[in-house]
Amino acid sequence: MIDLRSDICAAPTDAMWDAMRGARLGWATYGEDENVDELERRGAELLGKEAAVLVPTCSLANLVALLALTRPGDRVAIDDDAHIIVNEGDWLREVARLEVGEPAAVICMENTRTRRGGTVLDAAATAELAARAPRSHLDGARLANAAVALDVPLADLAAPVDTVTLSLNKGLCAPFGTILAGDAGTIARSRVHLKRLGGATIHKLGIFAAAGLLALDMVERLADDHARARELAAGIGADTPQTNIVLADLGADAVADLETLGVRTMELQGRVRFVTHRLITDDDVSRAIDAVRTLRGR
Ligand SMILES: Cc1ncc(COP(=O)(O)O)c(C=O)c1O
Repeated sequence: MIDLRSDICAAPTDAMWDAMRGARLGWATYGEDENVDELERRGAELLGKEAAVLVPTCSLANLVALLALTRPGDRVAIDDDAHIIVNEGDWLREVARLEVGEPAAVICMENTRTRRGGTVLDAAATAELAARAPRSHLDGARLANAAVALDVPLADLAAPVDTVTLSLNKGLCAPFGTILAGDAGTIARSRVHLKRLGGATIHKLGIFAAAGLLALDMVERLADDHARARELAAGIGADTPQTNIVLADLGADAVADLETLGVRTMELQGRVRFVTHRLITDDDVSRAIDAVRTLRGR
């Protein structure tokens, strides 16, 4: 089975497994784990921020960042197809549409934009949006993909915003974790919210941090995923993707039919979503293209 559902399917590398097995553990909650400390230091540096905290998931990192940036009753401006709205707690039912010009305390962006097929926001567009509210958050689950596609440092894309997340466990292949970065005060407040939500006491966190440190070195290889996504799109006649997500109109039963042909995909708003990642080879791309052609020939 060729699993193109998501880059979360990218397994850790052998080096990550070795690093996890050999990790020297300290009590992370008390700041005594060298791998956690190092990952948070390097994560902050990579994202160009003063401080960072390692959070179990990107959903939780987005939540604690927004809690740290807001007070009860504040409005948050966010696209209604953002992952935070659609996938992180069924907010769609509860959101109110802001009128153009209506003030919000925080503006929230996503880069890359998952439901738009992994499209990127450049630094200028990010700055222009960030300027529309006093505070800003960037859901950068796949910010490394955006940085590689635009050939700029991640820090440039994160510079306009107050807080930014970066998933280690998607295209970067770590088994676990998201970096949340920002100024020291906001990260300190985020840590308090993380504790209240039960996410600050992941004991033996250093095992995951050891793999997470290696994930930071996986940024450049995302270019391979992007090249394979372009190859796949060309082969099936889909729009050329900017990063690693291909969306194609293949008909209502395509996801189920492709599965019978050995290709796993996901449905996204009536389209088929293919996501390339480290385990997807050139041969897998050819086989996926063949499967789509078989489907079309039926
Ligand atoms: C844009 C975006 N933000 C956040 C997340 C959530 O990440 P996690 O699964 O680590 O909570 C995802 C998951 O794919 C995503 O695509």
